[in-house]
Amino acid sequence: MYRLALIGFGNVGQGLAQILRDRGDDLAERFGGPLRLVAVCDLLKGVVYAPEGLNPITLLEAVEQTGNLKGLPGVQKDWDALTTIRESDADVIVELSYTDLKTGEPARTHIEAALESGKHVVTTNKGPIALYYPQLAEKARANGVEIGAEGTVMSGTPALGLGLDYLAGAGVQKIQGILNGTTNYILTQMEAGASYSDALEEAQERGYAEADPTGDVEGHDAAGKVVILANLLMGAALTMNDVDCTGITSLTLADIQQAQAAGERWKLIGTVEKSGDSVKASVRPTRIPAAHPLASVGGATNAITFTTDLLGEVTLIGPGAGRIETGYALIVDLLAIHRKSGKKRT
Ligand code: HSE
Repeated sequence: MYRLALIGFGNVGQGLAQILRDRGDDLAERFGGPLRLVAVCDLLKGVVYAPEGLNPITLLEAVEQTGNLKGLPGVQKDWDALTTIRESDADVIVELSYTDLKTGEPARTHIEAALESGKHVVTTNKGPIALYYPQLAEKARANGVEIGAEGTVMSGTPALGLGLDYLAGAGVQKIQGILNGTTNYILTQMEAGASYSDALEEAQERGYAEADPTGDVEGHDAAGKVVILANLLMGAALTMNDVDCTGITSLTLADIQQAQAAGERWKLIGTVEKSGDSVKASVRPTRIPAAHPLASVGGATNAITFTTDLLGEVTLIGPGAGRIETGYALIVDLLAIHRKSGKKRT
């Protein structure tokens, strides 16, 4: 059995609760025991702690009906995130607080506290992973625990797992991808004749964009993912400043139509490439030929192409955002931790 404490109960946390509600039995079989939610701590919705386990149905109904967890039995009114991390008897902290690509806080402090308490961490939070992964991974090693971050790139589509587990020996030289759903949606809508502002508004309504969509359209969200790919899959130690980053804000409808007339499509492409002993990274709008595997990827879908010595190009296409899709990434990380621990737990 794994006992989980959720720090943050927004879209992704609720997505995970939905998965546990709908597939708990199947997952229990795969994990050799249930995934038990023992604590949920959300800055706005309140804190619930129940060592005997919280029912995901009750949690989801409470949020749907009242918008918070405050009326549920087991409420620990005086616990904040750090107390929940340190004092709950969870063995995995699921870090889902607000993403900040400038400071990585408060998630960085949460993750450090969890690792120092000897608890595994799974997170979909891009900020701390893009900014501090090498330090966090070192702390995890020093404390004999694991840190999983599959959902930081392409949600539950296993881009990191593919690179780490299956292509590690294939000699990955270059990784190129459509790593931001909002911008790909906007570019696809503009190809169909929509204006930039209408397309952005739709992307916001559909829930693809970040709370402040500037980070999407100026390429910073994709740059964070590029740093994560470089540091996790190529052993680099890049920072956000190392990424040569241009967004899509200066692309006009005329640019898009011109490319279409020439049999090409504009895509916001993130690239990580080995160059001698170093790794170079960029995010920039790129005209790519219609026959390229990334050209046919439309809407909010993401895709990634690994260029390898042994297999040539390997492309993975799938969702890059969404409540269930990102919630599933946490299951991927938990399964990886379970496999590493090498034994069934009861
Ligand atoms: N705003 C992001 C996107 C969400 O549009 O891809 C997933 O990281």
